[in-house]
Amino acid sequence: MNRIEKLRNKLPANTKGAIVISDTNREYLSKLLSSAGTLLIFPDTAYFIIDSRYIEVAKKNVVGAEVILQGKLYEQISELCSRHGIDEVLCEEEISLAEYNALKANVGSVHFIADDTLSSAIQQERAIKEPKELKMICDAQAITDAAFLEILNFIKPGVSEKQVAAELEYTMRKLGADGLAFETIVASGTNGSMPHAVPSDKLIQNGEFVTMDYGAKLCGYCSDMTRTVAVGEVGEEQKRIYDTVLNAHLSSMAAAKAGVYGDYLDKIARDIIYEAGYEGCFGHSLGHSLGLDIHEKPMSSYARHDLLPAGTIMTIEPGIYIEGKYGVRIENMIFITEKGYKNLTGSERKLITL
Ligand code: GLY
Ligand code: MN
Repeated sequence: MNRIEKLRNKLPANTKGAIVISDTNREYLSKLLSSAGTLLIFPDTAYFIIDSRYIEVAKKNVVGAEVILQGKLYEQISELCSRHGIDEVLCEEEISLAEYNALKANVGSVHFIADDTLSSAIQQERAIKEPKELKMICDAQAITDAAFLEILNFIKPGVSEKQVAAELEYTMRKLGADGLAFETIVASGTNGSMPHAVPSDKLIQNGEFVTMDYGAKLCGYCSDMTRTVAVGEVGEEQKRIYDTVLNAHLSSMAAAKAGVYGDYLDKIARDIIYEAGYEGCFGHSLGHSLGLDIHEKPMSSYARHDLLPAGTIMTIEPGIYIEGKYGVRIENMIFITEKGYKNLTGSERKLITL
């Protein structure tokens, strides 16, 4: 069964039509990486409307939908809906208000429904990775791991955060990455207390931690890893923080398996960090799923109650951040199975001192 057929099975039986416009949902369902396109799904057929830039590759790659060259898009949508007697179409929550208003204004014969029906059905389908998707993410992570080994030879006092970020990105490209999974984070010394610090011209100094959060993109799929390394000898509190984060990381990971809830894993990590005296120093969630997007549902968060099904990939990324001093985060990806999990990240987690 192709992805569009699987989606039809997930939608309510009385669904008349659905329209998929947002980039990664469209990419997922059509299997075409493109910056444009409209997927129209009807009960027994589907159309992929795409402009001339992509028509050739679309005809070769799109699975489960008839490919149509885009002309006057809204007239084409109107015509296809009326040809199939469709007067009601589900929209994704991910589209913009402008896109929704344009559909309503230009395709008057159709009632466009903007609730979460379509988005949550696609989300659920995307959460369970197919073997090929898992392989792509593992291959992207292998590049990420290899870049980590190389960057250890590059980091030293006097090198800037921006230079480390550039070297990581260039190395991943050289190793075959199509691009970056997200903007690379490199934070040294006091900048480490900002979980999503932007790499700066600050020069790395002896006695500092350097946190790197980065990933490769391969065939549309993301990898995600964070490592904190020490440059020269670090102090006792830094070591204690590192050990606490590692303990939180390993303990929450050990409890992962299909059927547990994300907030349960988050609590295991959070309790360890808080009991060590760092309440208030771990503000973000324990982790998230990922795939074509760097952040996908489900999440492992104190603020949500998401079931983790077999076949989903989750990050485990606790951290401790102390303003004005330093920060530590350790992040791996795991594949959730019925019995437990498979660790997808190969890089060393013990504190590395350069
Ligand atoms: N690695 C970036 C993030 O998970 O937000
Ligand atoms: Mn992450």
